[in-house]
Amino acid sequence: MRELSVNLKDHSYNIYIENEILSNLEFYIKKVYTKKNIFIITDENVALLYLEKVLNSLSSFNTQFVVIPAGEDSKNINVYANICEELLNKDIRRGDLLIALGGGVIGDMTGFVAATLYRGLPYIGIPTSLLAQMDSSIGGKTGIDFHDRKNIIGAFKQPLMVLIDPNTIETLNEREFNNGMGELIKHGAIGNYELLKKLYDKPKIDEDIIYESLTVKKKVVEVDEFDTGLRMTLNFGHTFGHAIELKYHYKHGEAVAIGMLMAIKMANDLNIGKKEFYDEILKIIKIYNLPSTEFNYKDFLNDVLYDKKNISGTVSFIFLEELGSAIIYKMTEEEIKRLI
Ligand SMILES: NC(=O)c1ccc[n+]([C@@H]2O[C@H](COP(=O)([O-])OP(=O)(O)OC[C@H]3O[C@@H](n4cnc5c(N)ncnc54)[C@H](O)[C@@H]3O)[C@@H](O)[C@H]2O)c1
Ligand SMILES: [Zn+2]
Repeated sequence: MRELSVNLKDHSYNIYIENEILSNLEFYIKKVYTKKNIFIITDENVALLYLEKVLNSLSSFNTQFVVIPAGEDSKNINVYANICEELLNKDIRRGDLLIALGGGVIGDMTGFVAATLYRGLPYIGIPTSLLAQMDSSIGGKTGIDFHDRKNIIGAFKQPLMVLIDPNTIETLNEREFNNGMGELIKHGAIGNYELLKKLYDKPKIDEDIIYESLTVKKKVVEVDEFDTGLRMTLNFGHTFGHAIELKYHYKHGEAVAIGMLMAIKMANDLNIGKKEFYDEILKIIKIYNLPSTEFNYKDFLNDVLYDKKNISGTVSFIFLEELGSAIIYKMTEEEIKRLI
């Protein structure tokens, strides 16, 4: 078992990573929740695989559940309204506990319901996809997509606790697993060179690796809970990744893999980092069958300017200073246009 605590100004919470924790939920949940009612939100795929097990391990609570269709298409305002309606029909009360059982979609959606219904309900995350376990389940960003814009409506809402069972990764299909690896490689690249090196050997993704990956995220979230500074380093590979994700039909972690390569090329042109970084990251990306299609970063700078320019007219790029360490590099519109 590995344990990690996220310490924020007015709220701290623990993350427990343990194989088969799904069979032992009551023990942990009782540490933070003393009432009876629990409402689980999950998707169709995860419900088939794990809902029964979870219900069995919560037998001393009064537990109900809401199941939504799987996938990103569910992260919208209609599904949000349906969930709230179903919860109210099931007589949810102020102070009752929500549980997010599923991947990042369920985590973002449940967190947003928890942030808004009754102006706030406590919730616990039980992430089941690799991406959710090593990334999206911590940090407190919740939300839904709206009018073709990802995560455009949302709130910061921290969970009461996060419970991770690495064994659930085994039922992910290969593409979903590799998609999560895209973000895991990113965590190694920006914050832990030892972790990055391990990935060359295709290790089993176990309690330790998830712990190390979450630790990279935890450290920046603690310093910058509301994403105004250091937390931006988590966006390594995302500046171009988002542009690629919008234009082509890649999954998020796949687009991030391509975006990391583009960011390294751009940094090299600005004399930041070393040329070898490209080959090192490329090697790992290929091990996990992530796309390594070469896109010229210059072809995407206009999209990035349109998407990311802030009020002062600058764009923050995240570059690798070393393998295992990232920097924020601000550029003005004129400097960017000179590169194009
Ligand atoms: N809040 C954040 O900080 C943050 C960070 C990164 C990504 N995200 C969000 O996360 C979402 C992507 O997360 P995701 O990749 O987990 O997507 P997802 O929730 O759609 O899960 C991917 C697929 O895997 C299935 N699945 C989940 N667990 C499974 C298991 N154990 N076995 C078999 N199938 C399983 C799901 O049903 C789904 O079909 C995006 O909406 C993204 O915006 C949020
Ligand atoms: Zn991401």
